[in-house]
Amino acid sequence: MANEHTFVMVKPDGVARGLVGEVVSRLERKGLTLENMRMLTIDEDLARQHYAEHVDKPFFGELLEFITAGPVVATEFSGESAVSVARTLMGVTNPREAAPGTIRGDYGLEITSNIVHGSDSPESAIRELGLYFP
Ligand code: RTP
Ligand code: MG
Repeated sequence: MANEHTFVMVKPDGVARGLVGEVVSRLERKGLTLENMRMLTIDEDLARQHYAEHVDKPFFGELLEFITAGPVVATEFSGESAVSVARTLMGVTNPREAAPGTIRGDYGLEITSNIVHGSDSPESAIRELGLYFP
């Protein structure tokens, strides 16, 4: 158990569908603390840095097109085990498999447009927070 900071981002589909408040509200109601928030449009360079682990995957082209297609809302949250708590609230990557009651389970159908990103480890969180909140 540790007080952690995590990076959570509402993806272009979530912003376009008016789900920013919903995502932020769910994390706040859980007890996490909103520390920072910023709206931006991701360019190809930032997308390649953010998703560096995926640049050679077959789905990267689709992911790149999607994540740069419109504005996102980048946030920093803190709290006990914030990284894993945020991931639990988000649900698994494929929204069709995500449990009801999770963000992806309640709002998504497609694996690419899955509404929200969250850091997958404390180390990823530090790296990603550095990219979006330098
Ligand atoms: P994220 O990084 O966006 O929070 O998502 P995640 O950890 O749950 O999933 P990850 O494996 O890191 O994949 C990153 C994003 O790539 C897209 N994806 N598409 N078509 C596919 O098979 C596929 N697999 C992954 C998703 O948008 C996923 O969120
Ligand atoms: Mg990931």
